[in-house]
Amino acid sequence: MRVTVFGIGYVGLVQAAVLAEVGHDVMCVDIDQQKVDNLKNGIIPIYEPGLETLVKGNFESGRLQFTTNAAEGVEHGKLQFIAVGTPPDEDGSADLKYVLAVAETIATHMSSDKIIINKSTVPVGTGDKVKAKVTEVLTARNAELGFHVCSNPEFLKEGAAVNDCMKPDRIVIGTDSDEVKDVMHELYAPFNRNHDRIIFMDVRSAELTKYAANCMLATKISFMNEMAGLAERLGADIEMVRQGIGSDPRIGYHFIYPGCGYGGSCFPKDVQALKRTAEEIDFEPLILRAVEDRNAQQKQVLFNKISAHYKGDLAGKTFALWGLSFKPNTDDMRDAPSRVLMEALWQAGAKVQAFDPEAMEETQRIYGVRNDLQLCGTRQSALQGADALVICTEWKQFWAPDFELMKELLNEVVIFDGRNLFDPELMKRNEFTYLAIGR
Ligand code: UDX
Repeated sequence: MRVTVFGIGYVGLVQAAVLAEVGHDVMCVDIDQQKVDNLKNGIIPIYEPGLETLVKGNFESGRLQFTTNAAEGVEHGKLQFIAVGTPPDEDGSADLKYVLAVAETIATHMSSDKIIINKSTVPVGTGDKVKAKVTEVLTARNAELGFHVCSNPEFLKEGAAVNDCMKPDRIVIGTDSDEVKDVMHELYAPFNRNHDRIIFMDVRSAELTKYAANCMLATKISFMNEMAGLAERLGADIEMVRQGIGSDPRIGYHFIYPGCGYGGSCFPKDVQALKRTAEEIDFEPLILRAVEDRNAQQKQVLFNKISAHYKGDLAGKTFALWGLSFKPNTDDMRDAPSRVLMEALWQAGAKVQAFDPEAMEETQRIYGVRNDLQLCGTRQSALQGADALVICTEWKQFWAPDFELMKELLNEVVIFDGRNLFDPELMKRNEFTYLAIGR
């Protein structure tokens, strides 16, 4: 099938590459000429396992094209995906200007019937706004063309995006049209084998499903972080509690890992946006507010522990920091807990020697060159001469470090672990001062 995807961001690019991989004829449109040129030259704007091979292979075979020419893009596909960003505006609501701009572009250039599919995470009611925008432009053009607007939210995780798209656990489609249902069935057939993963519903329910999913996951994490705070103060071990409750299938083991707070491009933004939606209709978002407040506090926990350990005297101290990205297998630094920590350490007059397997370039881009931040080539060199090690992200290569070497490199054998990577008993035997979360 001929498909057009507007917006070559995370969601758009992965979706386009995966659709091309199964044989669809996909054209990606973006306003960023540099990005389009880079992609044609095999330069991928994000780090995502498996994506580069997919993009290059399908570009070479001609199934995946990139252009800045919107008219060409609109002409190309009967299916028009909108996968542009919805950044929060000043009050935290999702800003729809890019989504509506694409709707306008489609309506301006279309010369045949289209199915417009919203992939961006958008507030409930956006489908109606897109429909109104397209109708308005078509009316002004005096063009009698048919179109449908449907909602098809994306549930991919960064670092596992290709796999999530290739093997989705569900495909949510909001539409009231039987024609759209048939077309979407055909489009997703390669991903819908063995058992039916497609869940059809109305547009508004599909839009809310996306927010509800992310907010539920964020709630699980904030709840566990709150339990961790309690466990710590009550002399319990949150890791034992986690196993104890996770074994109940009604609770489950997923997303109950306490840590130094959730970050990324979705949870913080989506919790805030749904909270705003609720407030706008005078419905009090009691739980969402608490989830957000707990997360803001949780991002301070590592700094508070460090500050307490050194009795507030951090000036002149140097901290090794392992892990900068908001989670492993990505270079994404958006809302990363490491940022809150580094900024607090700098504010207190301390220095940071950081190592991350992927996110150092991004860190450099955000903070520039500063004398209280040294980006180190290896995890060992980050330890050299530091007063303590702080762990913000659970990259696999941090799980089994050489503790003897660590003792040699660090000034003092102190670890602040925001991800509970090590066994406290083992650390005690190794004579480390080990401060983790909730234990
Ligand atoms: C999330 C959703 O998982 C995905 O379905 C949605 O489409 C987009 O948002 P992503 O932001 O890529 O994906 O990352 P995810 O793996 O969900 O982690 C989010 C944050 O929660 C990370 O900061 C992670 O460290 C944190 N987290 C996750 C915890 O602190 N504890 C957990 O148990 C799980």
